[in-house]
Amino acid sequence: MKRLALLMLLFSSILVPFFTFAQDTNSTNDLVYQKKTTARVTFKWAVKEGTLFVNLSAPTTGWVAVGFEPTMMMKNADLIIGYVTGSEVVIEDHFGVRPTSHVPDVDIGGTNDVTVLSGSEENGTTTLRFSIPLDSMDTFDRKLEKGETYKVIVAYGKRDDVASYHVKRGSFKIKL
Ligand code: HEM
Repeated sequence: MKRLALLMLLFSSILVPFFTFAQDTNSTNDLVYQKKTTARVTFKWAVKEGTLFVNLSAPTTGWVAVGFEPTMMMKNADLIIGYVTGSEVVIEDHFGVRPTSHVPDVDIGGTNDVTVLSGSEENGTTTLRFSIPLDSMDTFDRKLEKGETYKVIVAYGKRDDVASYHVKRGSFKIKL
């Protein structure tokens, strides 16, 4: 009986680490994120096989957004904007049509290329997790390439209304 218990213990100590490892490689846990914080918005990103994975958070119960490569303020930026309301996570692919306004890509003949992974609103902080293709082939998205440097803009608002003005906004450069 004692020998059987010992054998089972030995078996589980070999198998448990194996299953934990197998699980990790199948999940997104193997992504290595880089991080930038400005204007109280934290932008974390990781690239894997043609896809950009993003984890975006700000101290708000309203909208949070990130944009790539604007030409003037928000104009021509490839924007991803979203919010959490109850159990619903809304994340949309937008384009900066003017220095201070943006619209969904789908409203101007483009495509919605964002994949919603998850979102949360906890203790006054909204976190959005999503992915976008590095090259969606949509004219209203920026083609991104690993190793290149890009201007990134971030902002958050206090309402679940993506057309509302920001509380804070900022920008920085990243090397993908
Ligand atoms: C409809 C919604 C929005 C309106 C009405 C708006 C309006 C404005 C206005 C009036 C300014 C100049 C004044 C200031 O600095 O506050 C500005 C600047 C800025 N906005 Fe927005 N904005 C909107 C959404 C966004 C979004 C979604 C982002 C980013 C992801 C963003 C990023 C910025 C940045 C980075 C600046 C500074 C630009 C610079 O100094 O070159 N805005 N916005």
